[in-house]
Amino acid sequence: MKSIFLTVVATGAWLMVNAQQKLPVYLDINKPIEERVENALSAMTTEEKVSLCYAQSKFSSKGVPRLGIPEVWTDDGPHGIREEVLWDEWGGAGWTNDSCTAFPALTCLSASFNPKLSLLYGKSIGEEARYRNKTVLLGPGINIYRTPLNGRNFEYLGEDPYLSSRMVVPYIQGVQSIGVAACVKHFALNNQEEWRGHINVDLSDRALYEIYLPAFKAAVQEGKAWSIMGAYNQFRGEHCCHNDLLLNKILKKDWKFDGVVISDWGGVHSTDQAVNNGLDLEMGTYTDGLTTKGKFPYSEYYLANPFLKGIKEGKYDIALLNDKARRILRLIFRTTMSANRPFGRFVSPEHSEAARKIAQEGIVLLKNDKQFFPVTNGKFKKIAVIGENADRSLVIGGGSSSLKVAYEKSPLDGLIAKYGKDHVVYSLGYASGPSMYGREEPSKLNADSLMNAAIEVAKDADVVFFIGGLNKNHFQDCEGGDRKSLSLPFGQDKLIDALLKANKNTAVVLLSGNAVSMPWVDKVPAIIQGWYLGSEAGSALADVISGEVNPSGKLPFSFPKKLEDNGAHFYGKISYPGDSINQYYKEDILVGYRWFDTKKIVPQYAFGYGLSYTSFNLGTLSADKSTYSKDEIIKVRFTVKNTGARYGAEVAQLYVNDPVCSVPRPVKELKAFEKVFLQPGEMKVVEMDVKVADFAFYDESKKDWNVEPGDFILQLGNSSNNISQKLKITVK
Ligand code: GLC
Repeated sequence: MKSIFLTVVATGAWLMVNAQQKLPVYLDINKPIEERVENALSAMTTEEKVSLCYAQSKFSSKGVPRLGIPEVWTDDGPHGIREEVLWDEWGGAGWTNDSCTAFPALTCLSASFNPKLSLLYGKSIGEEARYRNKTVLLGPGINIYRTPLNGRNFEYLGEDPYLSSRMVVPYIQGVQSIGVAACVKHFALNNQEEWRGHINVDLSDRALYEIYLPAFKAAVQEGKAWSIMGAYNQFRGEHCCHNDLLLNKILKKDWKFDGVVISDWGGVHSTDQAVNNGLDLEMGTYTDGLTTKGKFPYSEYYLANPFLKGIKEGKYDIALLNDKARRILRLIFRTTMSANRPFGRFVSPEHSEAARKIAQEGIVLLKNDKQFFPVTNGKFKKIAVIGENADRSLVIGGGSSSLKVAYEKSPLDGLIAKYGKDHVVYSLGYASGPSMYGREEPSKLNADSLMNAAIEVAKDADVVFFIGGLNKNHFQDCEGGDRKSLSLPFGQDKLIDALLKANKNTAVVLLSGNAVSMPWVDKVPAIIQGWYLGSEAGSALADVISGEVNPSGKLPFSFPKKLEDNGAHFYGKISYPGDSINQYYKEDILVGYRWFDTKKIVPQYAFGYGLSYTSFNLGTLSADKSTYSKDEIIKVRFTVKNTGARYGAEVAQLYVNDPVCSVPRPVKELKAFEKVFLQPGEMKVVEMDVKVADFAFYDESKKDWNVEPGDFILQLGNSSNNISQKLKITVK
């Protein structure tokens, strides 16, 4: 008996010991990530380390099969999870389980000026990416809105580095809270699509550090982004996907980025530079086939065999390879191998609710004479809806952010649902042709007959909603090309004029990701700037038009009256789009409202501007002290009162001016904002902590930030061109 007992105990002990021994550290979810990374690295061969650093298919890269380390699966995009793509081509794979929720475009999120919605957005889209088993979400895009012609502005957060910083951080935190890596793009200076693959951008260090880098720095240092995507263009002579200054010095050394630098698809052009200048994962380089038989299979990628060969020959230091592999392993342990990776969900009611809420809060009311809006239910018998954007899918097209959706409620759907099909008459009005990526397809329909039909419908209606704007066609709001002009395309200006003649009760609703010129602005009683609002577009737009929801959006970028009023277009071709080889951002730090304010040019509509169905009053602005040292925080306080008859929200914006400085500075710069929701008659005291350090300019002589002592003027308003209170403080 005793011997049996002893045998059992011994066997149990043996199993225990072996069980312990059998589980290597990198598989032990109780071990800290850095220990697991080092343990996995030490178990890998050189070949396996190199195999982590380049794609195995269009959107995936290898893990380490022998060790059970999973592959890395990436997918677009910033507004929703792209349908599954074929293994080695851009085409859709035709799956039937990948129709997603389309969230509003990031311009809409930014226009909400509500960082809480960014967190909601990130969590929601993160859950959809998680459910689709993606390791990396290829978004958000945060390139600064420099020119209204940039084809991809709709994917980004606008013209102001502070707004972009505040809005991108919670989005990243939201996505990564679901165990999916965000991939912040496109680092950096990818502010146009024209010649994006090679244009060599240059600009002053001040413009670089004060305008184009802050949102990326916030994404890395506050958002803790686990990956970042190199841009296609060049910066000071090196492609951004392997740029020593951007990646080694600024991103990894100064900002202490510990994640993965992923190339844009096809953004890699040199093994030497990819190895030495901070690229970690090469994606999308051209290949003619999966197998080694092809002329250029994956194994011939710049970071594939050429890299391995260089390591073996001692041309490249193994430490460079270990750093890349370490970063990729860290990404894997933060996601697919994480100890407590949450689960996702897909096309859930919560995601629809989130999409609708973000859309509602991002819509901007630009003009509203004689309380044209809201058009409450029952106010009119016959509502004419005119324009292709009322009934055209706007979640498709636009390039890599294009989506295959579970559903999309168009503006027309929403208006019919809101007012009843017996009260809504629709007429196309204008037609733009099919949404083609890469080429422009004119419409086959006759513009005059479309316009005449629309005029008849408008004549006969009590009220007309023209719903137009841009769309995701090539040379519109679309990747791979820029717009050719500031004007509305497809004859819309002419149509709007005709509709106004037919019925003066015509409002204009623009759906776009960019500013447009408005020759009819004085004749139209009301204007709404809608965005690409996603699956819940129709509901959100109808909610605002009918007054169910009080609009609270503010413009994240300026609307110039004409293109030449915009700083990027003031200095000729070298400034935009460049001379086809080089480009210099000559407007320097004066981007967006910084330009309009400083050059005293009146925009059509200003950054930060947006109306409400109620009214607000910003009360006395005060600070806790009048003099501060450079490292102190200013406690700013003011009141916001809803002086109207409806619940609504105001965005209080705090700008700062440095009137006396050794270098030129913009008239004002946004340094804080807060969205305040108030019942009619309600007043709230708002307190903002503003760091004096945030008043710094980048001092090129010191190669560092600098706050010169002296006076600073705090400026409080509800738009960049509507400052209601000023307060002087002094920095010692
Ligand atoms: C595209 C875009 C990038 C996208 C990637 C994969 O060219 O520039 O934003 O994530 O390639 O589609």
